[in-house]
Amino acid sequence: MTTSPVAYFNGEFMFLDAVHISPLDRGFLFADGVYEVVPAYNGQLFRLEPHVQRLQRSLQAIHLTVEHDWAQVMTDLVARNAGGDQYVYLQVSRGAPAVRDHGFPTEPVPPTVFAMAKPLKQPSEKVLNEGLSAITVPDIRWQFCHIKSVALLANVLARQQAITEGADDAIMIRDGVLTEASAGNFYLVRDGEIYTPPADWRILHGITRSVVLELARANGIPCHEVELPVVRLASADEVWVSSSTKDVLPITRVDGRPVGGGQPGPVWQRLWSLFQNHKRKVCGSAW
Ligand SMILES: Cc1ncc(COP(=O)(O)O)c(C=O)c1O
Repeated sequence: MTTSPVAYFNGEFMFLDAVHISPLDRGFLFADGVYEVVPAYNGQLFRLEPHVQRLQRSLQAIHLTVEHDWAQVMTDLVARNAGGDQYVYLQVSRGAPAVRDHGFPTEPVPPTVFAMAKPLKQPSEKVLNEGLSAITVPDIRWQFCHIKSVALLANVLARQQAITEGADDAIMIRDGVLTEASAGNFYLVRDGEIYTPPADWRILHGITRSVVLELARANGIPCHEVELPVVRLASADEVWVSSSTKDVLPITRVDGRPVGGGQPGPVWQRLWSLFQNHKRKVCGSAW
């Protein structure tokens, strides 16, 4: 018999399958909510503080005031789910008022706070040895991509288009510049230097992105946060994607063409090992 993982729901820890959310919840009806995903290695949440700060910025950006000890909730949740390598998914919505109305509820309505923990798996040997494939798609998202909003339909459609076309992921293009992947930040490498789009409204300001840039700079690899016209893809030696559940992974085929030599490149290999060593140092991860 498998037991349900422990979740957190509106102030209480309970089994995930015991959580019930109202159909009137504004997260369900309007995608009126924000979320966070925080990895934990060896039972230790990684870069917890920046994740909490980004959650607070997202809440502020959607004018949702919630008093909560986010760090404590996530720490307790990881402990209650037996430590190890996990990720916490935490979502906050504007609650479930009695009436469906676009305007914010006029009566006080408690927000819905939900969190769950799931096992975090290391990427397969195949992905590490051969890399991922991607297609390019138009970035049809809104103009607040820096908010970690649960309104992810454009990202969902981009990812599904990639899957339907036999690829792993989609790299989005807005007004002729590369922005990010369907669920991760985008990088390219040229002549040993890393290029990634600037942290503005067009992308989510990834916590993993900040780790990648920090580790690269600390180890003498030049990094540039600049707009990347789509033509830069054709001359890239390496392309990467990063996120909290994947660290940083190589993309070795884009739109059916090999990137550089079509294999994970040396700069990625270096960054990957710097990343794993850093995690081990900070969290004692088994990775
Ligand atoms: C659209 C998008 N960009 C970037 C990221 C990477 O963010 P982080 O490194 O904080 O996980 C994500 C993560 O889910 C994402 O969905």
